[in-house]
Amino acid sequence: MSTSGIVYRPRRLRTTPRMRRLAAETRLHAADLVLPLFVKEGLTEPAPIASMPGQVQHTEATLADAVTAAARAGVGGVMLFGIPAVRDARGTAGDAPDGILQRGIRIAREAVAAAEAETGRPGPVVMADTCLDEFTDHGHCGVLTRDGAVDNDATLERYATTAVAQAKAGAEVVSPSGMMDGQVAVIRDALDDAGFEDVSILAYSAKYASAFYGPFREAVDSALQGDRRTYQMDAANAREGLREADLDIAEGADMVMVKPAGSSLDVLRGVADRAEVPVAAYQVSGEYAMIEAAAANGWIDRRGAVLESVLAIKRAGADVILTYWALEIADWLAGAS
Ligand code: PBG
Repeated sequence: MSTSGIVYRPRRLRTTPRMRRLAAETRLHAADLVLPLFVKEGLTEPAPIASMPGQVQHTEATLADAVTAAARAGVGGVMLFGIPAVRDARGTAGDAPDGILQRGIRIAREAVAAAEAETGRPGPVVMADTCLDEFTDHGHCGVLTRDGAVDNDATLERYATTAVAQAKAGAEVVSPSGMMDGQVAVIRDALDDAGFEDVSILAYSAKYASAFYGPFREAVDSALQGDRRTYQMDAANAREGLREADLDIAEGADMVMVKPAGSSLDVLRGVADRAEVPVAAYQVSGEYAMIEAAAANGWIDRRGAVLESVLAIKRAGADVILTYWALEIADWLAGAS
C-alpha cells in the first residue's frame, strides 16, 4: 500500500529516452513532409531570400538539385512556385506551356524519376501552386474588374487553364491557393475534360489573410499593393474555415489544407476531425522566419523549436505538412533512427 497516496504517476512514462520514445503519441516522418521550392526565370545563380535565411530562389539547374536532395532524403512531396520574368494584368505566364512553373514541373519530374531509379524508393510527389499572384503585375491572386476588385468568376477561367497547363507539364497535384469560390469544381472539370482524371487537387481550403506570409512576398518578388482580405479569410473565423473545407471536399478536392499552420491549429484540428480526405497544413514563410531570426540571435534553440513547431502541427491533425525545413528535418530524422 502506497504511503504517498498518489495512485497515478504519469511521470513514469517520461523517465528515460527509450520510454519516451515508446510512449510518443505523434511521430514525424520524412514522407509526411512537403518542401516548397521557388524557381525563377532567367536566374543564373540561386538568389538567397533575405527574410528566409537558408532558402533561395532557384535557377532551373539548382531546382533539379533540390528535388534530387529531397528525393534522397525521403521527403514526401515538393510544392513548386514559379517567378516569371514578365508579369501582366491577367497573369499570362501562369498558363503558358513554357512558363517558368511549367518548366520547373518538368525539371522536377525528371529529377524525381532519376532519383527513383537510383534509390529504388518513391521520390517526392510533384505539386504545383495553382494561382495567379506570382504572374500578375498587380500581385493579386486573380484578374481584376475595371474598378480594381478581384473578379471571382473571370479568375476561375484562368485557374482552369493554369491547372491544365500544370498537369500537361507533369504536375501530379495541383493546388489552388487563391480562395476563389468554386475554384475546385472548375479545376476538376477542366482536368477531367483534358484527360487528366488522375491528377489530384490539394485545395488550400482554410487560408487566412495572414501577416505571416510576409517573407513569401520577397520570395516571389511580389508586386502586391493592398491586401487579400476580400478573398482570404479573416483570422477571427474558425467555423468559416470548416465550411470552406467542406465545400472544397464537396467540389472534389482530394486533399484539403489549412494555412498558416501555427496560428490555425484549432481550425486544423476541426478540419481533421470531420474530413475524410488527407489534411495538409502549411507552416508558412513567417513562421519559418520567426524561428530562424530568434535562433540566429541565440534566443531560442533552433532544432528544438523547429521540431516542436512541426510536431505541434502534426499533433493538431495534419497528415501532410508543408515546411521549408522539410529537407533538414528529414536529414535529422534519418540520423536519429
Ligand atoms: C499564393 C500563395 C501564398 C503562399 C502560398 N501560396 C501567398 C499569399 O497567399 O499571399 C504563402 C506561403 C508562405 O508564406 O510561405 N500563391
